[in-house]
Amino acid sequence: MEYIEMALAKGRLVDTTLELFSEIGLTFPTYSKRSRKLFFTNDEWQVRMILVKSSDVPTYVERGAVDIGVVGKDVLLETEAHVYELVDLGFGACKMAVASKDEAYQRKPKPIVATKYPHIAQTYFRDKGQPIETIYLQGSVELAPLVGLSDCIVDIVETGATLKENGLHVTEEIASLSARLVVNRASFKTKFQRLNGLIEKIQAVIDQREGRQ
Ligand code: PRP
Repeated sequence: MEYIEMALAKGRLVDTTLELFSEIGLTFPTYSKRSRKLFFTNDEWQVRMILVKSSDVPTYVERGAVDIGVVGKDVLLETEAHVYELVDLGFGACKMAVASKDEAYQRKPKPIVATKYPHIAQTYFRDKGQPIETIYLQGSVELAPLVGLSDCIVDIVETGATLKENGLHVTEEIASLSARLVVNRASFKTKFQRLNGLIEKIQAVIDQREGRQ
C-alpha cells in the first residue's frame, strides 16, 4: 500500500494538530518539539509527515509533493492555492482584520496598508471599491502605523493583546480563520479510500469536540 504523504505547518499549529491525530490513533513517536528533524513516519498507518513553513504548505499540496496538508485559512486565502479544503479543524481560531490608531485612513483617497497578506488586503479593499497601496512586511506589522510607515494594517488578531499593547484597534473585520485540512486534487482521486478514511476519522473527532454527536 502506498504511503499517505502529509505536510504540517511548522509552529503554533503543530502540537494541536498532532493532538488531534493522536485522538484517532495516529502518532509520530519520533517527533519532539526540540528536534530539528523535519520528517516523521508512522509505518503502521503508512503515513509520512513533513514539517514545512506555514506559507509553503499550499505549494507542497497543490503540486502533489504531499497528498494532504494542515494549514491556517489565512495562508489559503493569501495563496488561493488550487487544493480541496475539506475539513475545518476548529482550532487556531482567529480573525483577519484591518486595524489602525483611528478611522482617519478611511477618508484618504489611497491609504497605505502594511501587511503580511497583500493579496487578502488588495482583494478586501478592491471589493469595497477602495484603492490602497500595500507595503509587504514579514512580521511585527503593528509597528507600521506607529512609525508612520502605513495608515493601517491588515493582520491576524487572536487575543487582541498585540493591538492593544501598541495602541491600535480593529476597525474592520475581514474573515474568520482557523486551521484547515487540505488535499491535493489528484491524490483525492488516486488515494480516495485511504484519504477519505482518514478524513472521516478526523471529522468524527471534530464533530465530537463541537458536540455535534
Ligand atoms: C501574529 C499576528 C499578530 C499577533 C496577534 O503574529 O501577526 O501580530 O500574532 O495575536 P494576538 O491578537 O493574540 O496578540 P506572530 O506572533 O505570528 O508574529 P509576527 O509579528 O512575526 O507576525
